Amino acid sequence: MDPVTTTTASLEVSGLAFAYPDGHQALFGVDFSIGRGERVALLGPNGAGKTTLVLHLNGILGGGAGTVTVAGLPVDKRHMATVRQKVGIVFQDPDDQLFMPTVREDVAFGPAAAGIRGAALAERVRQALDRVGMGHFADRPPHHLSFGQRRRVAVATVLAMEPEILVLDEPSSNLDPASRRELADILRSLDVTVLMVTHDLPYALELCPRALVLSDGVIAADGPTADLLSDEELMRAHRLELPFGFDPRSVARLPQG
Ligand SMILES: Nc1ncnc2c1ncn2[C@@H]1O[C@H](COP(=O)(O)OP(=O)(O)O)[C@@H](O)[C@H]1O
Ligand SMILES: [Mg+2]
Repeated sequence: MDPVTTTTASLEVSGLAFAYPDGHQALFGVDFSIGRGERVALLGPNGAGKTTLVLHLNGILGGGAGTVTVAGLPVDKRHMATVRQKVGIVFQDPDDQLFMPTVREDVAFGPAAAGIRGAALAERVRQALDRVGMGHFADRPPHHLSFGQRRRVAVATVLAMEPEILVLDEPSSNLDPASRRELADILRSLDVTVLMVTHDLPYALELCPRALVLSDGVIAADGPTADLLSDEELMRAHRLELPFGFDPRSVARLPQG
């Protein structure tokens, strides 16, 4: 790796503003940067602009003001193919992401489309499935798996692209407690930069040393997750609610990075 690459942030968002075609403005100048290897939670009430922001990270939405760069590469039309490889988005519903007859074919789909073939492709698929603990399910049809298993396969489809940053939209939603725990262990074990959109504040605290609060289309707070969740005024102002009886101070502080 050259020295420029090693010092470049995984993700840099600068002055990002965006209005939908109907005139509704969702982002009003968003600025933040995520270093390589960080795990960051993106918190915020419904309608804050979280999904709009995520859709800018790989160029599904664009054309407003400001810039997004991924590992130093601008997210724009010229770089779209590379950007789509570098930004791996796991959508909320795994069934939007799995459409092939077998798990193996689903995980192979992206790398195959990127031109990887033969033994290299098989190895990519094997590694991606191993990283989410789904190696034994390669020949199964995705629709025979549990919801939690399908979400893990969806994560594998993205990991198989060897992304610079993994973006997860509500990864713990609809998971039973055991699946929620298994996914947390998997996410913690990955050596990849993570941006996780979530309403599950204990999950954010457990997995992400740092959090951003997006509210009304701007970053309202950016800091250690435990500090943000312990700030009752901030939480109230942005309609963020901890589960009854949950004390963010009671959870051991995560090491940064
Ligand atoms: N396709 C769209 N056209 C117009 N407005 C939209 C569209 N999608 C979302 N919005 C509006 O943009 C704002 C941000 O939405 P969204 O990014 O989905 O928020 P979040 O994911 O934080 O709930 C909301 O006010 C929402 O109603
Ligand atoms: Mg959303």
